[in-house]
Amino acid sequence: MSTDILIAPSILSADFARLGEEVRAIDAAGCDWVHVDVMDGHFVPNITIGPGVVRAIRPHTKKPLDVHLMIAPADPYIEAFAVAGADRITVHAEAGPHLDRSLELIRSLGKKAGVSLTPQTPESAIQYVLDRSDLVLVMTVNPGFGGQAFIPAMVDKIRRVRTMIGDRPIHLEVDGGVAPDTAGSCTAAGANVLVAGSAVFKDGAYAANIAAIRAAARA
Ligand code: DX5
Ligand code: ZN
Repeated sequence: MSTDILIAPSILSADFARLGEEVRAIDAAGCDWVHVDVMDGHFVPNITIGPGVVRAIRPHTKKPLDVHLMIAPADPYIEAFAVAGADRITVHAEAGPHLDRSLELIRSLGKKAGVSLTPQTPESAIQYVLDRSDLVLVMTVNPGFGGQAFIPAMVDKIRRVRTMIGDRPIHLEVDGGVAPDTAGSCTAAGANVLVAGSAVFKDGAYAANIAAIRAAARA
């Protein structure tokens, strides 16, 4: 798999009143994927968006929609997000009793399957589902909100997950508190996809912000 760095801005930090315009702006600013944070007020203490919003933003970019489900249960909603236009769907290892089945369901719908780990979950939780996964998402904050501080202890987890992945064609994505000052430690530990909300949407300078994260990640 290519080791080039991919930047996935989280639209959680966008202006929701102008979401289509915001998606076009990050696309034009050079993002690689568009990260969509779905929260249910149950698995995480915040509520964001549903499949209807994914459907609404779909025509605004040809880039992959990277849908991060912070919901429990996830299985009953996976097909709705697939039909709405998600390209990649990530579920949390903690969100249900049958992670293997959730990942298989995502792939059966023709989508790329991701599995995410909250900060307290050891990487061993995904040991037996790696062959069903196209992506592993290591959370570097507690899921629920943008703008939180990066948890440095997660760098060690990123490194361990990279070792577990070995030569499988699996993306290793990091999400939470990623900015130019933290991006380099993530990619040095083996991450190749960086999600960033506040650091991309800061001051409206989307292209410069994406370029700064990319430069720091490659350094
Ligand atoms: C947190 C979300 C993240 C978050 C990232 O629950 O999964 O995608 O929006 O935001 P920043 O980059 O501001 O930490
Ligand atoms: Zn996310």
